[in-house]
Amino acid sequence: MEENAVNEMRDRVFTEGKKFGRIMMVYNSAIKEIRTKLEVLNDEFQMTWDRNPIETIKSRIKQPMSIIEKLKRKGISIDELGLASLNDIAGVRVICAFVEDIYTVADMLTKQDDIKILECKDYIKNPKPNGYRSLHLVVEVPVFLSDRKQPVKVEVQIRTIAMDFWASLEHDIHYKKNVANTKEVSKELKKCADIIYATDIHMQNIRKMIQTEESEDKA
Ligand code: GTP
Ligand code: MG
Repeated sequence: MEENAVNEMRDRVFTEGKKFGRIMMVYNSAIKEIRTKLEVLNDEFQMTWDRNPIETIKSRIKQPMSIIEKLKRKGISIDELGLASLNDIAGVRVICAFVEDIYTVADMLTKQDDIKILECKDYIKNPKPNGYRSLHLVVEVPVFLSDRKQPVKVEVQIRTIAMDFWASLEHDIHYKKNVANTKEVSKELKKCADIIYATDIHMQNIRKMIQTEESEDKA
């Protein structure tokens, strides 16, 4: 290859790499904003109610290869990769103990006046046919940069510990290509999803019974 062409390619890789790095930095900042909001809400809730509605917060930035694959799948050119093209480059997963906590957390977060809800999919009220349950939100949160306020999309998935346990096992069958008895596995998973949900509700009712006893004791 001619020296000029090599230099040109090197410059292009450098410029594109920098542009990509900047976009990822902004998404990462949006994750930090959302995590902080959730942590503050959890701390405040603890003070008021003596328990935490949130067990764990996990977050991730989509891997570059997955971003490229998804853009390709959606027919979006890589050059168009900006802060608007995909909803789930920044992802936050909130794990709660009880089903009602999911809605409490979602409500407390989305009520904040700098949060805009772009999408809400309730796979708890309407589970997927395979049994998947979770509350999915796509929100926009402002990230304050040196010269502007940048609204950034973050996908927030809120589910119970039990729903999360189920989803991680179910997720495996999408990646393990050689599952011999996929049909049987799917049937068993669906059964488990329904049992898990029934148990989630049962556990919630038990917690309410305990709470009622506690408040009667105090009275
Ligand atoms: P994509 O974002 O293009 O996948 O489509 P969508 O926006 O319609 O997806 P949806 O909101 O239904 O789900 C987005 C994310 O939720 C996925 O990337 C998974 O992390 C999770 N998810 C959705 N459905 C399932 C499921 O059936 N099983 C498991 N394990 N996870 C799921
Ligand atoms: Mg999505």
